[in-house]
Amino acid sequence: MRPMLTSRDFLLGSFSSNCSSGMTVTKVEERWKNSWENNLKLAQLFDAAGIDFMLPIARWIGYGGETNFHGGVLETMTWAAGLLASTKNLSVFATLHTVANHPVVAAKQMATIDHISGGRAGLNIVAGWNRPEYEALGLQLPDDHETRYGYAQEWFDIVQKLWATDGSFDWNGDYFTLKGIAGDPRPVSGRPPIINAAGSPQGRAFAVRNADFLFTPAIDLGRSRDEVAALKGQAEAVGRQVEVLTFSHVCCRPSEKEAREFHDWYASEQADWEAVDNLVNLQFANAQSFPHDLLALIRDRMAAGHGGFPLIGTPAQVAEGILSLHAAGFRGTTLSFLDYVEEFPYFRDEVLPILEEKGIRTPKGAAAVAAE
Ligand SMILES: Cc1cc2nc3c(=O)[nH]c(=O)nc-3n(C[C@H](O)[C@H](O)[C@H](O)COP(=O)(O)O)c2cc1C
Repeated sequence: MRPMLTSRDFLLGSFSSNCSSGMTVTKVEERWKNSWENNLKLAQLFDAAGIDFMLPIARWIGYGGETNFHGGVLETMTWAAGLLASTKNLSVFATLHTVANHPVVAAKQMATIDHISGGRAGLNIVAGWNRPEYEALGLQLPDDHETRYGYAQEWFDIVQKLWATDGSFDWNGDYFTLKGIAGDPRPVSGRPPIINAAGSPQGRAFAVRNADFLFTPAIDLGRSRDEVAALKGQAEAVGRQVEVLTFSHVCCRPSEKEAREFHDWYASEQADWEAVDNLVNLQFANAQSFPHDLLALIRDRMAAGHGGFPLIGTPAQVAEGILSLHAAGFRGTTLSFLDYVEEFPYFRDEVLPILEEKGIRTPKGAAAVAAE
């Protein structure tokens, strides 16, 4: 139970397979199709290979450009329910915007998918940043981070209290007044794993107080090393343990030349630059998740993998990149591929064995069963 919290391996998962084009802002026909069938195939491939988790992006409107990047999105709670019912070992997260989801409903939905899966559900909490999305939903995005995270804190306090309390209670807070609420059933055991991806100081403080995993971009590993150490120190200072996850984009081929040529084609020559610029501008206007002084580098990485750490090259080079994330102190990384289902099997067959040989993962899933 709670494999995300008990595993000793360097954690591997996927990010954004529920969204059209996944993480790659490209016009090529080979880009990811986020159909239910493809998501189910990916979950079952992951489950059999011993991959740890899947994390979705919650998104309500696309980023425009020729492809309207992320215009098509499977809703994350129902997506997670379906995947959890169809797998045995994989953890699956739902991603919720606090303002768009009532905490009593969210607590119950999470408890339900936790029961469906025997304790493999997780929650990614988003306090809000994307103003046009809030306008689309008729919701107010507070200008200041204090209010965004103040609201998120009260929201999550209610969720946690529902998860931990037998019987009913009233709630009288700044944002919610609730009468006689109860959370039955509670999650299967203890609290499901919590992810938060804040970048601002207020958001980081929220993550340190509440999350099991803080999710942050790895743009420069020198900076990442300091950032991870600082976050862990900040958590320890308030008596908590927080691990740090990041996200990566994989293009793996038998030769480096092949990998680079293929990557340059879809992620540069054929990038949907209009959508990339919309994405970058929105990030820089409303969020503090990416370092603002590295704009040029970030623009290229946004096209390739939504700002993810590049893992491009041979299986040995991709494994080396993952080992460098491990050495920087990250607890794990998500992986994205141009087409996840098409490209993951090569990663599974060629890269996972190197990570096992290097001792950052243990053989699991079908490979371990076959070896017994
Ligand atoms: C890895 C990662 C995953 C995120 N997932 C989502 C998401 O699914 N939906 C969303 O609206 N925002 C998402 N965000 C945005 C964050 O939740 C957060 O709002 C943003 O990083 C701004 O941080 P700040 O509020 O501290 O400035 C994500 C950010 C990162 C870095």
